[in-house]
Amino acid sequence: MRFTVAIDGPAAAGKGTISRAVAAHFRFAHLDTGLLYRAVGAKVAEGADPVAAAEGLDLSDLARGDLRSAEAGQAASRVAALPEVRAALVAFQRSFARREGGAVLDGRDIGTVICPEAEVKLFVTASDAERARRRWLELAARGGAQSEAEILADLRERDRRDREREAAPLRPAPDALLLDTTELTIDAAVNKAIEAIELRQ
Ligand code: C5P
Repeated sequence: MRFTVAIDGPAAAGKGTISRAVAAHFRFAHLDTGLLYRAVGAKVAEGADPVAAAEGLDLSDLARGDLRSAEAGQAASRVAALPEVRAALVAFQRSFARREGGAVLDGRDIGTVICPEAEVKLFVTASDAERARRRWLELAARGGAQSEAEILADLRERDRRDREREAAPLRPAPDALLLDTTELTIDAAVNKAIEAIELRQ
């Protein structure tokens, strides 16, 4: 059985949480594609050439502990604007999407560029203030020292770069289901995603 769920949206809107829960529910594999760009960004911060870093990306690179920081997010969004970097990561994502047993991929361009043929496409959003609050909670739990205002500025800068770039800009696919999670609990958001998938199965 091949079945692809594409989940896109801006930073900290709930994509990761929803993707993991949906993948567990349907026993699909899950790929957080942001990690690919974060890993490339981290290598570039260490002096690597962006295209060589993307072409040579290894699964072990995704297990690095330092990829979740705000700096890694900014580095990711800078390398993600380079068309050659994006091109180097396409084949891996597409083969993951069509693997046997079903797959959930979350990112910015899954429904528009990587898997326009995905069986289900969701575009997950939340208000800026709510996204900053959630990311602050997440980072504070891991000992982060950034204020909510700093996190908000960081998210906005990254979203602007992701939306305004020419290569695979962040935007909903025309046939994506929009899911605004601002007022939803995690369970409610996950249930809406599960319902959308059940309708297509
Ligand atoms: O999702 P996450 O915040 O980890 O993504 C980090 C950055 O990677 C994003 O801001 C974006 O620039 C880039 N990205 C992308 N396309 C994807 C996933 C992430 O351009 N499919």
